[in-house]
Amino acid sequence: MGPATIPAIPSQHGDGEEMVSQIPDPAQLDPMEKASVDELRAVQLKRLKQTLQLSYDNVAPYRKKCDHAGVAPADLKSLEDLKRFPFTLKSDLRDNYPFGMFAVPLSEVVRIHASSGTTGKPTVVGYTRGDIDMWSEVMARSIRASGGEKSDVIHVAYGYGLFTGGLGAHYGAERLGATVVPMSGGQTPKQVQLIRDFKADIIMCTPSYMLNIADEFERQGLDPAQSTLKVGIFGAEPWGEAMRREIEHRCGLQAIDIYGLSEVIGPGVANECIETKDGPTIWEDHFYPEIVDPDSGDPVPDGEFGELVFTSLSKQALPIVRYRTRDLTRLLPGTARPMRRMDKITGRCDDMLIIRGVNVFPTQIEERILALEALSPHYQLIVDRANNMDTLTVNVELAEASDGGDAIAAQLQRDIKDYVGVTTTVHILDSGKVPRSEGKAVRVIDQRK
Ligand code: DLL
Repeated sequence: MGPATIPAIPSQHGDGEEMVSQIPDPAQLDPMEKASVDELRAVQLKRLKQTLQLSYDNVAPYRKKCDHAGVAPADLKSLEDLKRFPFTLKSDLRDNYPFGMFAVPLSEVVRIHASSGTTGKPTVVGYTRGDIDMWSEVMARSIRASGGEKSDVIHVAYGYGLFTGGLGAHYGAERLGATVVPMSGGQTPKQVQLIRDFKADIIMCTPSYMLNIADEFERQGLDPAQSTLKVGIFGAEPWGEAMRREIEHRCGLQAIDIYGLSEVIGPGVANECIETKDGPTIWEDHFYPEIVDPDSGDPVPDGEFGELVFTSLSKQALPIVRYRTRDLTRLLPGTARPMRRMDKITGRCDDMLIIRGVNVFPTQIEERILALEALSPHYQLIVDRANNMDTLTVNVELAEASDGGDAIAAQLQRDIKDYVGVTTTVHILDSGKVPRSEGKAVRVIDQRK
């Protein structure tokens, strides 16, 4: 690999401060990141046939679904034919807990991860040596697309353990050849100390945890924008453009969106490219995306919103066909790469609140909170029932050095009514009273259940 040519791109700070970031040298990109769309489609078709055959031959519950639907792998002649195949649901993984969806014997499985699952059994995923290799490769690609390179110190503050965030980021950063600090989540004062002592260039954590770390910098009398961090690779929970601006402004870094889910591999299914920052590019040579109507399951064309569905193209231990993610977004044409992008996730089908007939996503409320400078970005929504009517309470805090709580509460209430269409009660809590996240933030407490 030759020395990188590194064009400087201005940051989105908007406060006059120019920050230089790195766009990866095209010579360092994987061949598939530079392939033509035709080449990409040919690779997808070949791999899709292999995946369907592997599932049909070795995953009895999926074979049963195919037989029931009257389709077999040989029926797939083009990518278009995929829509004839049955979906895989989270419940399929639960019903076949723990290893019933694996396509290889356990002796071939070198790693297990599991997603916590708020109800019932966790969903268990397995990886062969080859799967770990592919995952490391797409994670290294993701970090590079975010502006990372071999010479960087990467501070991983995603949780290590059954959650895929920590180890996924770790293996990708090592594959890139960077220096990894496997900090995991929690011990927030120590996060600040190590970022400073080890002069981290890149941090990887949830966006809500980054805000918590920024608060800790300030608690210690330090300006987070003055740290060595130049890039943050944030994901594992929904976060909007307003949150991106808030984090970039406060922390003086480029905030890049990374997407993934355990059932498909973990983080690294899609990642934003730093040169465009226009929604995660889906690494389509390994994960084939579709969008379907969340109610009917019918495919919808690119550009239209619906539920994201993924088929893995190169996984061995847990090949997954048409997995219903429950995440709502749309597919967009490629920009920095030939592969398609996904729009930022609006929320999950299961996260949509219906308050007196109005559909509300927490990210819509988040946008209104972040539009008010007098408020801190931490928030929690409480849903309850009074006199047979649903109620929505927004718990927020004032930004430091702000006062006039009643007027601000009234303002936020009005803004939410005007922009989102729902009536809320706004409570301004004392500083530090909105629970802080160390991983995925709990945005909604539903007291109706
Ligand atoms: O959250 C994997 C991950 C780790 C992704 C670290 C990114 C960074 P799960 O615990 O299985 O896996 O949760 C997957 O989290 O279906 C989305 O609802 C949500 N999610 C993940 N990334 C994003 C994102 C990991 N960038 C679920 N934006 C997914 C919005 C996200 N939601």
